[in-house]
Amino acid sequence: MVLPSSFELAPAERKDIPMLARIHVIACLPDNAFALYFATAAKFEKCVTVMLEEQVGDSTWRHIKAVDKKTRVLAAWASWNLPTEHQIRERDEKSAAKKIEAESGRAKGEFNFPPGLPSYVQEDTDRWLERSTRGKRHLLCKALFTDPLFQRQGMGNALVQWGNRLADELALPIFLQGSPFGYPIYKKHGFETVQHLDVDLREWAPDAKNNDKGYGIYRLRYMLRLSLTLPPNDTSTLPST
Ligand SMILES: CC(C)(COP(=O)(O)OP(=O)(O)OC[C@H]1O[C@@H](n2cnc3c(N)ncnc32)[C@H](O)[C@@H]1OP(=O)(O)O)[C@@H](O)C(=O)NCCC(=O)NCCS
Repeated sequence: MVLPSSFELAPAERKDIPMLARIHVIACLPDNAFALYFATAAKFEKCVTVMLEEQVGDSTWRHIKAVDKKTRVLAAWASWNLPTEHQIRERDEKSAAKKIEAESGRAKGEFNFPPGLPSYVQEDTDRWLERSTRGKRHLLCKALFTDPLFQRQGMGNALVQWGNRLADELALPIFLQGSPFGYPIYKKHGFETVQHLDVDLREWAPDAKNNDKGYGIYRLRYMLRLSLTLPPNDTSTLPST
């Protein structure tokens, strides 16, 4: 028997940005790596807001929210990026010319990660993505957060399934970086771990080397879900020129 769900999914709008940023931050509070990413929760929220201002409404992004039917509260959200052929080609050309590292600016809509641990992780993820998606259309799942007050009600499952349906409609693979908190839900929905990065948080947390403060190895999983459908034609592979 399928139970009626207590929430509904809808595209997020620009007016939702403050709530999306708030949920992003509070969902990450138990994540001890994120605690090392930003000096304060306020700085974290500001950074997420700037990123969302550039993303929400852009044609290469999809932001989907889950709204609790009873209270009308926005309780969870997820986002996917669908880079255009032009954007992929531009990235590949820069990478071939080894210009990416030399550039100081970040791409529009990209998280402005502070130096240190966040940038180290981001650079490794970018290298993997660049290698894995060179010349190929793909989807990136970039965010998935449920307000802790609404967790374990199926919103995360429904959001991941929304993205998987989109990928199957477009016949595209989905790539993502899964945190230790996030990866079980992706595994459940057909994502495979294709690479991982083990980060020893004692190396990054202040004064943790000789007094580990409970920090240890934090595994980031680089995950892939292949489409269950075949591409309608060969548009998923871009010409090499
Ligand atoms: C991951 C997250 C989005 C799941 O959201 P949710 O709305 O609670 O998800 P659901 O209720 O649909 O549960 C989905 C699955 O997630 C897993 N899960 C969710 N909460 C869990 C918990 N506290 N402990 C273990 N597994 C959990 C289970 O596998 C569950 O599957 P089930 O339906 O078979 O029990 C939410 O826990 C969250 O926001 N976490 C912090 C942020 C994060 O890690 N995001 C992912 C970044 S990669």
